[in-house]
Amino acid sequence: MPHLPQSGDILPSEITPEAVYLNRRQLIAAGAGLAAAGLLPTAQAAGELAAKPSRYNVGGEEKNSLEQITHYNNYYEFGTDKDDPAKNVGTLKTRPWTVRVEGACEKPQTFDIDKLLKLVPLEERLYRLRCVEAWSMVIPWIGFPLSELLKQVAPTSKAKYVEFTSLADKSQMPGLLAGVLDWPYTEGLRIDEAMHPLAIMAVGLYGKVLPNQNGAPIRLVVPWKYGFKSAKSIVKIRLLETQPATAWNKAAPNEYGFYSNVNPEVDHPRWSQATERRIGEFLRRKTLPFNGYGNEVAGLYKGMDLKKFY
Ligand code: MTE
Repeated sequence: MPHLPQSGDILPSEITPEAVYLNRRQLIAAGAGLAAAGLLPTAQAAGELAAKPSRYNVGGEEKNSLEQITHYNNYYEFGTDKDDPAKNVGTLKTRPWTVRVEGACEKPQTFDIDKLLKLVPLEERLYRLRCVEAWSMVIPWIGFPLSELLKQVAPTSKAKYVEFTSLADKSQMPGLLAGVLDWPYTEGLRIDEAMHPLAIMAVGLYGKVLPNQNGAPIRLVVPWKYGFKSAKSIVKIRLLETQPATAWNKAAPNEYGFYSNVNPEVDHPRWSQATERRIGEFLRRKTLPFNGYGNEVAGLYKGMDLKKFY
């Protein structure tokens, strides 16, 4: 069974008089109906997340199954094998959770995740995810545009880049004990990439709150870049004047650049990026420039040599 975090680990019956609890259960049941009808903006029951369908969907491709999406993961804080995260993520505590947004902005703020979810428009978006290891999946995310979060803090004209930092807590993340990366996991985008409508913060998938192994409670998704740009379990976002260092670039600068746009023409030094294996399929597919999102995003890189800025 995938580990699907529920609304809380403590049963309401443990902390609430029974009559109040039963009453609350009825309210929650009513909320679930509204949520299913798309009338409530946030989670109301059993991990359900109500979201509007989006116009940004990949067409004509089959979704990967929930089982595939939750059992073939990269989340090195929980181990380096693909099935390690599913086995080990039970120790990740996703509530209470805050995201600090600071740096070059007028209104730096610490957002409680549940309050944040009431501020933003949740959408379901079917996106391709292309991992740098030359496999891919199609995932029905629930999320909201990153730009909606950044607007809340009013970036100044000095905000040229955005840095994302994942949680790094040894008591919850056994993989931190292995020195695979210089923890915490960090990633970065240029501000125009971050403000692009395709860049989202995901908080769910398949209609439910995000499973821990996929980066609960909140992770970045940048579908035209290799999957490692999409940092998981984010606790801090900084607006910066200069390009931030990123965890994979620090670990292997000749293999992982800052931009990391999906590019079938630029091979990884140790393997080709021309094709990919869709998880669950036998034949390989051709990798598309910008992972198939070129019409939307190629303009961001006009005039740049993408072989140099890999
Ligand atoms: N974020 C953190 N904090 N740690 C990680 O190891 N792995 C990245 C990215 N985000 C990673 C991370 C890589 S390499 C990929 S391909 C995607 O997460 C995988 O996301 P998924 O497991 O939800 O498919």
